[in-house]
Amino acid sequence: MKALVARSYGPLEELEIAELPTPVPGPGQLLVRLEAAALNAVDKALITGALRDAIPVTHPFVPGVDVSGTVESVGEGVTRFVPGDPVIAWNSVASGALAEHVVIDDAPSAARRPPELTPAQGAALPTGALTAAALVDLADVPSGSTALIVGATGGVGSYTVQLARRAGLTVLATGRADDEAFLRGLGADHVLDYRAVGIAEETHRLVPGGVDVVFDMANAGPALAATAAAARPGGRLVSPLGGPPAFDRDVTALYGGTRATEGRLASLAAQAVKGELRIPIDADYPFAEARQALLDFAGRHVKGKITVTF
Ligand SMILES: NC(=O)c1ccc[n+]([C@@H]2O[C@H](COP(=O)([O-])OP(=O)(O)OC[C@H]3O[C@@H](n4cnc5c(N)ncnc54)[C@H](OP(=O)(O)O)[C@@H]3O)[C@@H](O)[C@H]2O)c1
Repeated sequence: MKALVARSYGPLEELEIAELPTPVPGPGQLLVRLEAAALNAVDKALITGALRDAIPVTHPFVPGVDVSGTVESVGEGVTRFVPGDPVIAWNSVASGALAEHVVIDDAPSAARRPPELTPAQGAALPTGALTAAALVDLADVPSGSTALIVGATGGVGSYTVQLARRAGLTVLATGRADDEAFLRGLGADHVLDYRAVGIAEETHRLVPGGVDVVFDMANAGPALAATAAAARPGGRLVSPLGGPPAFDRDVTALYGGTRATEGRLASLAAQAVKGELRIPIDADYPFAEARQALLDFAGRHVKGKITVTF
């Protein structure tokens, strides 16, 4: 099969499309013929080796955690899928989606792709929407609360804006000056141009006293303190990255990540079919241009997701 391959840790420019053996599904696994994949920040980190201490990969390494394709064969004991089923999946750091075939687990991280969704739409859903849903769960604030979403135009943020709005939150979202229409289209009540204003100051101007919860997709470590300052005393900061155990003014730190609970991916796909959840795709590249897709993903402003179609 053809695959986008990293031969060793290094820059994205060194990726190449090469022939690799088609993987074989083991017990409880599915072999999927890819129709589309989507790109994520973790792809770059695994390729370059930025995460090599925490998450080492073996080479040749095939990136890609968001899978959309057709089940080609199933391993022993698989009951939820049969060959020919359209499937979407979050393949976690096992990766492998930027190839003609990938092996995934028969697990809640995989769901049938509804026929109403294109392969690219199916690929653009798993990591972004599952992570956003997990973070909104983690925030655990009641309807009527106020939320600031930092990094709202990105793959996770663009779903977090929508799911927070649907949970009844008033949403302040950060973006660039020309992101206003995009973010309001996702449901943002206020848009903060993070390059022109101080995020915490502008939040306090719009919501005196501060918001109930800050979702920060853009900062990690001590830098989170600056956005935690946008929360009200006793409020919450939720992040898919890591940071301090707590913040000043009794602001609670809540760190989480992608979680595929039973039925959730299917439920998010169903919401998309009903028009309750938009799948924002910034650009779709043919597989032959997958390396350029990753370079553009890493190097330019993206509204939502970048997908690769086979
Ligand atoms: N723990 C987990 O399981 C998990 C799961 C998914 C994602 N993540 C992590 O979560 C982060 C977000 O993921 P993603 O897929 O949404 O990434 P993404 O698509 O690259 O989005 C990042 C967003 O942050 C914005 N941003 C960058 N610098 C900013 C700043 N200084 N102030 C405000 N906004 C800023 C970007 O806007 P511009 O385009 O304007 O720069 C963009 O909207 C990544 O670091 C990713 O690795 C973790």
